[in-house]
Amino acid sequence: MNFEIQKRALSSVIRDDLDALLVLWPSDDKDVVSGQDPIASLVRAAIQHGDFEHKPGAVLSLYAHPGIKARHLVIACTVDGTSVHVRGALTAAWNTLKSAKIKRIGIHAAAELSATALQTAVTALADASYSYTSTLSKPKPRTLKQVVVSAGQIGAELRVALTQAQALVAGVEVAKEWANRPANHCTPVMLADAAKSIAKGAAFKCEVLGPKEVTKLGMGAFLAVARGAAEPLRFIVMRYNGAAAAQAPVVLVGKGITFDTGGISIKPAAEMDEMKYDMCGAASVLGVFKALGELKPAINVVGLIPATENMPDGLAVKPGDVVTSMSGQTIEILNTDAEGRLVLCDALTYAERFKPQAVIDIATLTGACVIALGAVRSGLFSADDALAHSLQLAGNESGDACWRMPLDDDYAEGLKSRYADVANVAGRQAGAVTAAKFLQRFSSRYPWAHLDIAGTAWRSGAAKGATGRPVGLLLHYLLAQAGSKLVKAPPVRRR
Ligand code: BES
Ligand code: MN
Ligand code: ZN
Repeated sequence: MNFEIQKRALSSVIRDDLDALLVLWPSDDKDVVSGQDPIASLVRAAIQHGDFEHKPGAVLSLYAHPGIKARHLVIACTVDGTSVHVRGALTAAWNTLKSAKIKRIGIHAAAELSATALQTAVTALADASYSYTSTLSKPKPRTLKQVVVSAGQIGAELRVALTQAQALVAGVEVAKEWANRPANHCTPVMLADAAKSIAKGAAFKCEVLGPKEVTKLGMGAFLAVARGAAEPLRFIVMRYNGAAAAQAPVVLVGKGITFDTGGISIKPAAEMDEMKYDMCGAASVLGVFKALGELKPAINVVGLIPATENMPDGLAVKPGDVVTSMSGQTIEILNTDAEGRLVLCDALTYAERFKPQAVIDIATLTGACVIALGAVRSGLFSADDALAHSLQLAGNESGDACWRMPLDDDYAEGLKSRYADVANVAGRQAGAVTAAKFLQRFSSRYPWAHLDIAGTAWRSGAAKGATGRPVGLLLHYLLAQAGSKLVKAPPVRRR
């Protein structure tokens, strides 16, 4: 997909040769609503007849309208112009076009276009028009090729916002692609190859460790999970250096379980296919690196991905087994389905060698987080207030929000073990928090945050598919750290 931005009046855009023209219509801009152009009078008539209300999701759709060169014209109400409403307007507008073969689309902002609205419009359109093709014999690839964004006024800030949105879209689509692939098309080795090719394309470093090196490092927890798998494990280390070597990096750690059967503590059959998404944390790290390679911000970032399948097998780790993690702490594995924290804890110890300014792990870690927060916000866990606030802000700005959860020490009570320093599971209560408390034991040497994306990384049901989250949140955070925000902060909405 190719994106352009132009300073144009609506009266001129309607003469453009487009398959579809999408007009973002505000609800309260007097100049726009009382305008003299043909579209304004058309909207006024529709409002008068009650056919176009100023509410989220309202669209007015026309075909081959005289005086408008685009085949399709869709007017979509952006209500108060916040990310949520712009996203809603774009999605509703795209849904009216879905069956049409749209190659060239125009998005025109009838009122002032903010950097946030521009970014939201572009990412929402990319999201709605995405099409998975990799494992289909007759794929239906996305037809959309060209997106022309226009508004009456275009400042330098909007041009920067478009460049960044474009990189974000590329990153999100890398994350979606790898997350959507079935496990036999996304093994640890294939994930490592994907990391290498992203690194090669952008000239940064990528090192891949196998079972031998991981054994030498003493990653007993990671190795325990990989024991049952025939597919060999990989530990992926990506290094993007955009700042001086002396500057401490941010380390991103992505859970890369390419398939989670639960191991000997095997999962029920229903919906087990969705456990191919158990590497969405890893996919988000790949997506972030793709975007970093395009934008080249002034920051150092390390990406770590412990990748393996979690399988039942004669050699598989058994409930009650005690293993020694890279940190030296022993772990009693009471449930082999709590494998994410086992691969992550060794990666968190490995992260110490980078003397990081912050470490953020991203994981489809617990079903309990899905129950707590659903598909709307990711779970955020951090004892570091400054880091937590930066991540919350990045989430709000990017429309990829998270919600801070508690980390009181009392929650760690259930992790006590008679046979090891710590058990890998606690009781049924507060499962997302006890998982985070387990990880916290391995991340005491630097500011740390954990994002549980079990509810937000993919959608189930009819619209099954990866969302590409939280690439938006992470990229916003990193660009803010680099001193170049993706977009200006929008007004904070109280909820
Ligand atoms: N990958 C799962 C978490 C998960 C489950 C994400 C369902 C999304 C939907 C993780 O490895 C897991 O199995 N967690 C267990 C932990 C439990 C054994 C303490 C869970 O949440 O049930
Ligand atoms: Mn599991
Ligand atoms: Zn898992």
